[in-house]
This record gives sequence, structure tokens and C-alpha cells, in this order.
Amino acid sequence: MTNEPYFPGLEGVIAGETAVSTISGGLRYRGYSITDLAADSGFLEVAYLLLHRELPTEEQFADFKAILVESSWVDPAIIEFMKSIPLHVSAMDVLRTCISALGHFDPQLDDDSTPANIAKATRLLAQIPILIAARHRLRHGLPLVAPDAELSFAGNLLYLITGREPAPLFEKAMDVSLVLYAEHEFNASTFAARVVASTEADLHSAIVAAVGALKGPLHGGANERVLEVLQEVGRPAAAEAWVRQALAARRKIMGFGHRVYKQGDPRAVILKEYCTRLARAAEDPSLEQIADTIEQVVRDEKGLPPNLDWPSARLYHYLGLDVDLYTPLFVASRVAGWAAHVIEQAENNRLIRPRSKYVGPGDRSFTPLAKR
Ligand SMILES: CC(C)(COP(=O)(O)OP(=O)(O)OC[C@H]1O[C@@H](n2cnc3c(N)ncnc32)[C@H](O)[C@@H]1OP(=O)(O)O)[C@@H](O)C(=O)NCCC(=O)NCCS
Repeated sequence: MTNEPYFPGLEGVIAGETAVSTISGGLRYRGYSITDLAADSGFLEVAYLLLHRELPTEEQFADFKAILVESSWVDPAIIEFMKSIPLHVSAMDVLRTCISALGHFDPQLDDDSTPANIAKATRLLAQIPILIAARHRLRHGLPLVAPDAELSFAGNLLYLITGREPAPLFEKAMDVSLVLYAEHEFNASTFAARVVASTEADLHSAIVAAVGALKGPLHGGANERVLEVLQEVGRPAAAEAWVRQALAARRKIMGFGHRVYKQGDPRAVILKEYCTRLARAAEDPSLEQIADTIEQVVRDEKGLPPNLDWPSARLYHYLGLDVDLYTPLFVASRVAGWAAHVIEQAENNRLIRPRSKYVGPGDRSFTPLAKR
């Protein structure tokens, strides 16, 4: 075993099979290209596709939406508990804890059959926006807003947070970001979810583990760090000097690089277009100018293209959202992909339990405590 090859960070390792998505030859969810899905479908259709394996018919879609409307409810005990969490705790940490609490109230918690897992995942899709918005509004001393059954998923998400119906461009931009965040094969958080599911633990436990994995800045947490970087730069004229200095100091520029996409992240290209449109609508090109300069220098100097978190941070900023909501919004979308993987793992399970390469001390003779 000690001489077996191993790959730090499991880089390049095929760790399992999936029919949920592929990144070979462009990102596809169950065979459909993200370019087509982003242009012509919406997040809820994509969530249906991920959970039910096929795009919905109009009737199936209407039923799915009706279930989501019915499930748009969180037990008041969770909201009361949320009020007791100190205000300095990040939105992402609160969301992780409250998703765990949702499990306590779920009528099918320990049923890991596929229909029960789809039902639980559908409830989570409806409940997570309520949790995100509730924490945000409580923190700002604002009254909670009830979901509006007439709005799209993206429209409702923005409405729950801001209390205002979004303009069509804002709604579409949010929707496209959710479509693009929904699924990405064996990324760290999805793999974490599958490891938990492989022990035959429940779906909520797997999702909580995934949220924990997503929080880190090398994964979903990057979108919040990206905006901090752009704000640190401040103005277009300062961007080039800032990025050259950061690279010289061997600082990692958040929103660049990817473990798998070495030639570029196709999702980033799609979302950048929406950033351009939103900046034009805001009549303020400065953030796009800062981003373009940083992008050019990082590409020239390091050969690194931007990943999805690079444009998504700007996009959420244009939508007027607080920075600490960015990674929770990623959760609101990726929960669909995570759940699809949990279902797939449960249906064809084998405990995920790899080996490690031991690099600790050799055999040592034990000395009892009293003699040490
Ligand atoms: C995503 C990420 C973890 C992938 O990392 P990885 O596959 O392990 O790649 P490595 O960290 O081995 O990087 C390879 C080289 O590129 C450099 N690099 C990678 N990402 C970089 C970044 N964002 N800024 C500057 N340099 C970077 C590394 O320093 C390394 O350079 P070296 O060979 O001179 O040491 C990494 O690119 C990163 O940390 N990006 C920033 C965080 C981020 O945006 N995360 C969201 C991912 S969707």
C-alpha cells in the first residue's frame, strides 16, 4: 500500500460515477448544455431536471411550483432560534445551523427512499430562501416578508430579501446565476455530501456537510472575497498596480483559477454578459473596468482565467445585495445539485472510504504515563 501512487487533493482522480452532470466538452446538466439552460430555461426547471432527471412538461412544472409554494414555510421555532444567534455570526454559518434545524421538523427525515429524498429536497429549495432572507432582515431590523406565489424562484428570492419586486433584468440576472451555480459534478461540497450519504445518513445531514464545505474561500466562499478585493482596489486607475503588487506578493486572487477548468470556466463567460448589462443599467462602468484590468493582468502574468465567482460577486453587488449573502445564495441554488447526487449515491451506494498514505513515525515502544 505504501508504494501505491496517490494524488494530493484527489487531483485528476475519478472518484465515482454520475449521470447528473459532466464538464467534459462543456458543462452539461443531464445532457443539456448550460448555455442553452441559461438562455432559455429558468432555475426551477433546472432544479426539476436535476432532481427528476428529465425536463418537466408544463403540467409537471405547474405541480412542482405548487409543491414549492406549499413548502414555502419554516417552523416559527427556527425563526425564534435564529433571533438568538449573535449578530456577528455570518449568514453562511446561520444558514448551515438552520438547515440542520429544518431536519428536526421534516416529516420524512430518516426516509432515504428516492421519492422521500426528492420531497425533502423540494422542501429545502423552498425553505432555504426563507432562511436566508429572514436572517438578513432580522439583522437589519426589518420585518419579514412572506413569499409571493406569483413570482419566479429568482424573483421571489430577491423579493424575500429586499421586500421589493425586482426589475426584469435583475430577476433574469439572478435566475441565470442560480442556473449556473446549480450543479458541478464532484466539486468539494458535492463530494462531502456524497461521503455523508454513503454512510446511509439522511439527506439533511449530507446537505449540512455540503454547506460547511462550500463556505471555504477556495470553494463557494470565494464570491464574497471577490467583492472584498474589488472594493479594496476601489477605482479603475488603481487596478493594475494593485494586481501586479498582489501577484508579486504571491497573493491568491480570489475568483481566478480552477482545479478542473484550466482553459476557462464557461459559466464565467455567460455571467459576465449580465454584469456588463447591469453596469450599463446602473450607468457606472467602474467595477467592470477594475475587473477587466485585473482579468487581463492575471491572464497575462499567470495564465489563469476567471471562474464563476469572479462575475457572480459583481452581479450580486449590482443587485444591491449585502456581501455576506453571496455564498448563501450559492447554497440556495446548489442544494438542487447536492440533492441529486445524494439521491444517486443512495440508489447505488457503496461506502466511500479511501485509504491514506501513512507518513507518521515508525514503530515505537510504549512507555506508561507514570514513567514518561
Ligand atoms: C480554485 C483553486 C483552489 C484551484 O487550485 P488548484 O487546482 O489546487 O491549483 P493550484 O493552487 O495548485 O494552482 C496552480 C498555480 O496557480 C496559482 N494560482 C492558482 N489560483 C490562483 C489565484 N487565484 N491567484 C493567483 N495564483 C493562483 C498557484 O499559486 C499555483 O502557482 P505556482 O505553480 O506558481 O505555485 C485555486 O485556483 C484558488 O485558490 N483560486 C482562488 C479561490 C477561488 O476563486 N475559488 C473558487 C473556485 S471555483
